[in-house]
Amino acid sequence: MLIAFEGLDGSGKTTQARLLFEKLSQSYSCILTKEPTDGPIGLFARDNMKSSTNKDTMENTLLMEAFFIADRIDHVNSVIKPGLESGKVVITDRYVLSTIAYGGVVGIDTVWLAELNKSFPTPDITFLMDIDTQAAMERLKTRANKPQVFENKEFLRVARYIYKNEAQKFKNSHVIDADRSQDTIAEEIFNIVMEQMQKGH
Ligand code: TYD
Repeated sequence: MLIAFEGLDGSGKTTQARLLFEKLSQSYSCILTKEPTDGPIGLFARDNMKSSTNKDTMENTLLMEAFFIADRIDHVNSVIKPGLESGKVVITDRYVLSTIAYGGVVGIDTVWLAELNKSFPTPDITFLMDIDTQAAMERLKTRANKPQVFENKEFLRVARYIYKNEAQKFKNSHVIDADRSQDTIAEEIFNIVMEQMQKGH
């Protein structure tokens, strides 16, 4: 089973991915992974995002998303596919929907972005951690390692909108109200996963 966590920076997806991993690992063999990866292409993309000056332009974002897709090829081949083939539950913090949402914000055609991603395994469940943009920005303020890009409020508002719109096109996608306690959210997510497992996904 492949489970993807998606959402804006500050939405709590990394925490929820970890909580699900810890809970599911008590009964199943699981892998917790993330994008961008720490592989060479992922690191290059991150460095580029930090140093780039024209961050939210279409040309810069197009380049960045191309890197993220290239990083995904490597991630799918070296981690996701082998994990799924050996019967593990693979939980990924960000996946295809990140490319579609963040690329879509600057005007890149989301249908085309989806097409570029179509050879990758489809998640059995996608969780979109949905949070008010102001709340996400407040959460990020307290973070030592703040993301350098995508912190403009209007940018986040559009990203949130596209995320929600595009999530509907993914099978078994769940928009999770992320403005609640960690435990409440974790329980809701765990219940959805168990229900899906019982259906034999
Ligand atoms: P993030 O999850 O913040 O990575 P880390 O915490 O490891 O630095 O991702 C970095 C940024 O990259 C984030 O703001 C979203 C963006 N991103 C895309 O635009 N497209 C993608 O396909 C991915 C995976 C990330």
